[in-house]
Amino acid sequence: MSQQRRFLSHETLEKNIGWLIVCTIVVVSIAGFVQILPLFFQHSTTQPDPGIVPYSPLRLMGRDIYIREGCVGCHSQQVRTLQAEVERYGPYSTAGESVYDHPFLWGSKRTGPDLARVGGRYSDDWQRIHLRNPRDVVPESVMPSYPWLARTALPADDIRQRMRTLRTLGVPYSEADIDGAPDALKGKTEEDALVAYLQGLGTNRRTVVGIDVAGADRKTDGSAAPRMAAGARSGSQ
Ligand code: HEC
Repeated sequence: MSQQRRFLSHETLEKNIGWLIVCTIVVVSIAGFVQILPLFFQHSTTQPDPGIVPYSPLRLMGRDIYIREGCVGCHSQQVRTLQAEVERYGPYSTAGESVYDHPFLWGSKRTGPDLARVGGRYSDDWQRIHLRNPRDVVPESVMPSYPWLARTALPADDIRQRMRTLRTLGVPYSEADIDGAPDALKGKTEEDALVAYLQGLGTNRRTVVGIDVAGADRKTDGSAAPRMAAGARSGSQ
């Protein structure tokens, strides 16, 4: 090899920190764009799945309570494409299910089970008892109690603002939807909202014809639905 140093040689890069930084940024950006850019144009990631509609005012408030109480710290909302997950929870999650979620609540921690398909799995009464004191229905549960939700009236003063903000992010609420929202929250408690939110999770996949739903035969009348032992659960992250 000649002794002359080529301008774009490895040696130049390795000995010149400025160039190394510039070239690293260029390479990482190209790699990032190749992965990320196509997602903005793929309908499966930008369009709602069949049956996915914007949250009703009550469910929207329930979702905000779910965020406030940190439920996402123990519960994921994403069924992965693994056989064990699909058999346990139901059909795996798709991007089109989350287009109205700002922010999404996929989570990354499963101290408790995934909740992406929990809607309709239990009765409203079961959900209420479970929220007030989980050990009344699942003796070995380590989930905290949330008894104040049932005693706290739902504030209705800022629901319009919440919906307007979501509209700027692309959620198609109409003026009529927004105007009628405070009425939909009248007389409701925070627990009502959270239960409504939970009971709608994943139900689009049950009502859409042609989608095979594992677990659709689960009991919803509040009697003991098939459950795994706590030990078996915690091992199934
Ligand atoms: C410290 C962790 C933790 C937090 C925080 C937590 N949970 Fe749980 N959750 C669990 C565990 C563990 C279970 C399984 C035992 C049981 O059913 O109580 C569970 C079970 C559930 C179930 C039943 C799921 C099923 O398929 O059987 C629902 C619904 C639920 N939690 C909702 C919530 C909501 C809503 C919140 C926030 C208000 C919340 N959890 C906060 C740990 C947690």
